[in-house]
Amino acid sequence: MIKKIAIITSGGDSQGMNAAIRSVVRTADYNNIECLGFYRGYQGLIENDSVELGLRVVNKILGDGGTFLKSARSSDFFEKEKREIAFNNLKSNVVDALVVIGGNGSITGGHIFSEDFNFPVIGIPASIDNDIWGTDNSIGFDTALNNIVDSLDKIRDTARSHNRLFFIEVMGRDCGNLALHAGIASGACYAIIPEKPFELVDLIKRLEEGKKLRKTSSIVVVSEGNTYGPAYKIAEDLTSVYDDYETKVTILGHIQRGGSPTAFD
Ligand code: F6P
Repeated sequence: MIKKIAIITSGGDSQGMNAAIRSVVRTADYNNIECLGFYRGYQGLIENDSVELGLRVVNKILGDGGTFLKSARSSDFFEKEKREIAFNNLKSNVVDALVVIGGNGSITGGHIFSEDFNFPVIGIPASIDNDIWGTDNSIGFDTALNNIVDSLDKIRDTARSHNRLFFIEVMGRDCGNLALHAGIASGACYAIIPEKPFELVDLIKRLEEGKKLRKTSSIVVVSEGNTYGPAYKIAEDLTSVYDDYETKVTILGHIQRGGSPTAFD
């Protein structure tokens, strides 16, 4: 019988994590289950840094980006002894189960923890990368995707005005979902993703095809985890063999992870 649960947000934050916390707390309240939030993901569990979560605490966080419970990538949690400390903290707080809101690594951590101590853990997929096995959509992906598409639309205005070729580097770690979806949604001429080996000749061929159609500017979306290298290297290598375009590079960075979640997230 579960009477009290703990919640953490872990790994890279994503838009919609607050909404997910709110949902868990409200559902728990409806079922007469108490909730304890631990700050900074697994690190807060190890350090026993917690806050009681009731309906009033999660009031007004629905549309806020980030996570009010804060997040961290805990290297301590890789150690069995530290996981044991976390387990003992849960026991001393009379917690019966754990909800982990996070990405690939965080949910894997939750799985290991659950097996270590035969403790019930539920993972809620939340990551802008959308790289979690067994789920179609992770919380935050849609917002980050829309942030990228918004930026690409803006960059296209200036790319067109100057007949330039832009390389836009986006996040995703080892997963090309953000780059691929953003490339399609914004009409980019090419997306370089980790899942597919990249050769400069393929891009040159694509650019030549565009020129035949009187295209004067282009956007290439580069996923950060691609196997060739960072956007700056690709742009530099391309210009050394193909200088038909003036090239520019933009790294979108953490702006992708910010802002209010979309309705979907
Ligand atoms: O996992 C989410 C993510 O934003 C990845 O896309 C990116 O590689 C990484 O986190 C960046 O991590 P940090 O915010 O710790 O620099």
